[in-house]
Formats: sequence, structure tokens, C-alpha cells
Amino acid sequence: MNRILVTGGAGFIGSAFVRYQLAQYPDVHIVTMDKLTYAGNLDNLREADPARHTFVKGDIADAAAVAGAMSGCDAVVNFAAETHVDRSILGASEFLRTNVDGVYNIVEAAKKQGLERVLLVSTDEVYGSIDVGSFKESDPITPRNPYSAAKAGGELLGRSYHTTFGVPVIITRGSNTYGPYQYPEKVLPLFVTNAIDQEPLPLYRGGEHNVRDWLYVDDHCSGIDVALRNGVPGEIYNVAGGNERENIQLTRRILELTGRDESLIKLVADRPGHDRRYSIDPAKLKALGWEPQMPWDEGIAQTVRWYQQNEWWWRKIKSGEFKEYYLRQYGQR
Ligand code: NAD
Ligand code: DAU
Repeated sequence: MNRILVTGGAGFIGSAFVRYQLAQYPDVHIVTMDKLTYAGNLDNLREADPARHTFVKGDIADAAAVAGAMSGCDAVVNFAAETHVDRSILGASEFLRTNVDGVYNIVEAAKKQGLERVLLVSTDEVYGSIDVGSFKESDPITPRNPYSAAKAGGELLGRSYHTTFGVPVIITRGSNTYGPYQYPEKVLPLFVTNAIDQEPLPLYRGGEHNVRDWLYVDDHCSGIDVALRNGVPGEIYNVAGGNERENIQLTRRILELTGRDESLIKLVADRPGHDRRYSIDPAKLKALGWEPQMPWDEGIAQTVRWYQQNEWWWRKIKSGEFKEYYLRQYGQR
């Protein structure tokens, strides 16, 4: 695998994957294709060596643009997506366009060009919520919000291209990911940056009810890489951090690490259809040799430090489009 197309590579996990590939594989050339939506950011790719990295601005919902960027590549890894559940509740049409139509263009171009591997990055949210135990890849999917329903649509289309046309599609389903360069709409960077600024932390439903399993971004990238190189086409692999925390536990840790107290917590109205708990079993990926490396205590401390030391990165985001979104999402809450 010498030339890999990474769609959505200017986002949070995609840019970490570009860095990971360039660091691990000296012979690899990466072509990043990204529409640069509100979540895409060329600052995230500032460490990518231009001799081994090409950036193409483009939309995966544009079939010709996808075919052009894919030309000459052996593999594609798709990160491009509308990714924020709360935004999908405000309006879902972009979610369908990118997360379903965009994936269609990728698998269709891959079929025509005979790619060696097509890895579709998906999410544990497609399984829906689980009170006890953990989902395995063989469990049925029951997505419950427009974001996860659209991701499930893209997945199903990808799997159909494997079954029907033999396109070598592999799917990964990752758990809640955290680390540097995450757009500050997601709970962890939102709460860290709000805490730094002594702004309220808007916690849904008291924070004791909901549980997420936290996965460090580089561990998510190594999981995707193992699935890409050692996985079996047609298969699905769960990528989980093994760090389940109630939202209130996460919030208290952020307050401790930023030196703030609990008076910053603001209990706000719940997310409609809020999934209570996500939990997935990554044994199948571990059997291929993957093991997450980052302990939770170290990962969260390093991540908080990164946001403290890189205000240049998030302050310009929070003073742009984000401000209008924040008002719409939290203004009346
Ligand atoms: P992100 O929102 O930070 O980045 C998404 C990227 O996709 C941005 O660079 C954006 O510009 C680009 N993009 C959006 N629409 C596009 C289009 N039509 N054409 C081309 N580019 C487009 O997202 P992320 O958190 O890095 O998530 C990456 C992938 O991982 C997504 O597919 C998401 O569903 C999945 N995932 C995320 C998490 C998580 O916790 N963040 C967990 C599991 C899976
Ligand atoms: O599980 C994987 C998924 O994780 C990814 O597929 C999604 O792309 C990613 O956004 C994330 O989805 P969540 O909905 O779990 O993440 P979010 O950061 O939006 O919320 C995490 C939890 O925190 C959730 O229980 C809702 C809660 N929350 C979130 C926000 C933004 C709050 O209490 N207050 C908030 O302001």
C-alpha cells in the first residue's frame, strides 16, 4: 500500500491518521481530500511533510472529484462525515448527503478503479444504546439519531458493494475519541476550553445517566491501520478504548485538571433521544494484533494540557462560525 487516499483527513481523527501513516510508513504517500467544512482545518495538517502528502480540496458527494482524487491510489480510508449528533438534530440533510451519498461515490469509484482496500470509518453509535454488556460485530444495528442512522446507511451500502461486486470493503466502529485537534463542539474539548475560560459547562441530564467509552485518538488510528492492513474484506471491527465513564466523572476530571470548581457545571435540558450508554467489544480487532496504548489518566491529562498550550488553535475556531452555533444550540437551553 503505497498511495492512500484519506477522505476527511483535515478533521480531528483523519488528520491524526495522516500523521500516523506518515510516521509509521516511510514509503507511503497520502492524498488527503477534504471539503473543509466548519470542522475541516488545514492547521490540523501543519505537521504533514509536503513531500509525502498532497492536499486536494473536494467534496465526497461530488462523484467526479472522488474519482479524480482516487486515481493512482491503492486504498482509500474514509473519515469524511458530518459527525456531531446535536447538529444532526438541528438538521440532517447534510448528514445524508455526506454520510450516505458520499460513501456511495467512494465505493462506486473504488469498484471502477479496482482498489486493494476500502476502509469505511464508522461508529459504535450504529448499534444504539446498551444498558448491560457490550456489543459484538455480529449484533444487529439499531441507530437512534439522524447522525448514526446516516452512518449506518453508509456502512450498509459499503457492505452491499462487497457482497454484490466484491469491492474489498472493511468497516471499523470506533468509540468516543479524544485528543488534540478535536473541534470544540464535542463534549470533551468544549468542556476543557470552557473551563479554561471560566465559562459554564452545559451538562445534559445531570451527567450521571450517560456513559461513554473513551478512546485516545492515536489508539483509534492504530486500530484503523491494523484493520486496513490485516483485516479481512467484508468484515467489521470494533475499536474501543475500554475507559467507560459517566459524563459527570469526565466533567469532574476536567474541572480538577483545569483547576476549576463545580460551580461551573450548568445542568441543561437533555439531548432528544439521548443514547444512555455505548459499549463495544474489541476482541476481534485485538485478535489481529491491536492493543490500545494510552492509559486514561495520562490521555486525559495530556489532552487537557494540549488545549491549555494551544489556545492559538481553538480560540480562532470559537470566535468564528462556532459562536453562532453555540447560541443556537445552548442559548435557550
Ligand atoms: P470531524 O468532524 O472532526 O471531521 C470530519 C472531516 O470531514 C472534516 O475535515 C470535514 O471538513 C470533512 N468533511 C465533511 N463533509 C465532507 C464532504 N462532503 N467531503 C469531504 N470532506 C468532508 O470528525 P471526526 O471526529 O474526526 O470523525 C471522523 C470519522 O470518524 C467520522 O466518519 C466519524 O463518524 C467517525 N467517528 C468519530 C468518532 C469520534 O468520537 N469523534 C468516534 C467514532 C467514529
Ligand atoms: O461514540 C462515537 C461517537 O462519539 C462518534 O460517532 C460521534 O461522531 C462523536 O460526536 C461522539 O458522539 P457523542 O454524542 O457521544 O459525543 P458528544 O461529545 O456530543 O457527547 C458525549 C456525551 O456528552 C453525550 O452523552 C452527550 C453529553 N454532552 C454533550 C455535549 C456536546 C453534554 O452533556 N453536554 C454537551 O454540551
